[in-house]
Amino acid sequence: MYLCAVITLVGNDLLKVLNFLRAGELVAIPTETVYGLAADCMNDRAVQKIFEVKQRPTTNPLILHVESIERIYPLVNEFPDTFKQLAKVFCPGPLTFLIKKSSLVSEYITAGNERVAIRIPKHPLTLKLIAALDAPIAAPSANLYGKLSPTEAKHVKNQLDGKIPYILDGGECQRGIESTIIGLEKNEVVIYRLGSITPEDLAQQLGYMPGLKVHSNDIPVASGMVKYHYAPITTCSFFDPMKPCDESAGYIFLSKNLLSSSSINIRILSPTENLDEAAKNLYSTLHDVDNGGFSHIYIEKVPDVGIGMAINDRIGRAVAKFHF
Ligand code: TXA
Ligand code: MG
Repeated sequence: MYLCAVITLVGNDLLKVLNFLRAGELVAIPTETVYGLAADCMNDRAVQKIFEVKQRPTTNPLILHVESIERIYPLVNEFPDTFKQLAKVFCPGPLTFLIKKSSLVSEYITAGNERVAIRIPKHPLTLKLIAALDAPIAAPSANLYGKLSPTEAKHVKNQLDGKIPYILDGGECQRGIESTIIGLEKNEVVIYRLGSITPEDLAQQLGYMPGLKVHSNDIPVASGMVKYHYAPITTCSFFDPMKPCDESAGYIFLSKNLLSSSSINIRILSPTENLDEAAKNLYSTLHDVDNGGFSHIYIEKVPDVGIGMAINDRIGRAVAKFHF
């Protein structure tokens, strides 16, 4: 087991991070979506540590992060043309491809699945790091299993302090919601996890609306599909305008206070009702409110369009932990 306490440093010393990775240690890295908990994917022991530190079931596979499209080829049997086209448009960026793996990818990464998940993150520090390591980085989100994903270095520190030696601080994540995960079924693109690249974004390139397979609770293709996930510790419900306001609760609204009282603790995701801004602020607001000592969190659903679908998906999974 990997449970010895270590001192967790926070900084932007790329050389230090590189040396930790080369020595088989884990580090937290920034991406445009959320912070990742990174290991050298060629080091099986380091990959196993990810599951131990996150307390994540080993049946739940990991995403590989590479720095260029060319680096995808050795990891897969065949890179489908449809994905090549999408990669040209969206990579680096928040799009993860599920592709039949090559023998280079260990079973620990894919948890025995035929397909491996690969993406090119859009963060200059992390791209530099992967290039310097000269190997793909395996990284799930840098939170404990089932807890809120981190979008700032301090969120990682709160959950993983003493468990990893270094958090590479790359500032606030610009997108704030995990990548969109896609695969191919009968030659058509299917979305397994809603994320920062919207179904509409993909449809524009594909000429058809990709299928959505994100709501099944049986045998999820991606763990983000399990019903509850990404949850705060404080009990969380959808905001209901018919309910009397609760002085001891924290409220999260999209753009304006929907309560009659202004003295209540309220957080706004985007004053201009910009859904990209709301996505960027979602987890950090949930982290803040979760640490605010409230008896309950009430959160408003946002319009179910574009990235709003991914926001509602995450809110729904947080709420589902407390209402099933
Ligand atoms: O934006 C993101 O994707 C972030 C950053 C750090 O890159 N990563 C992330 O990783 O969200 P994680 O492990 O928290 O979520 C990845 C999801 C999981 O639900 C996992 O089950 C699924 O991807 N996944 C990974 N590899 C898979 C595979 N081979 N087959 C099916 N699902 C897979
Ligand atoms: Mg995650």
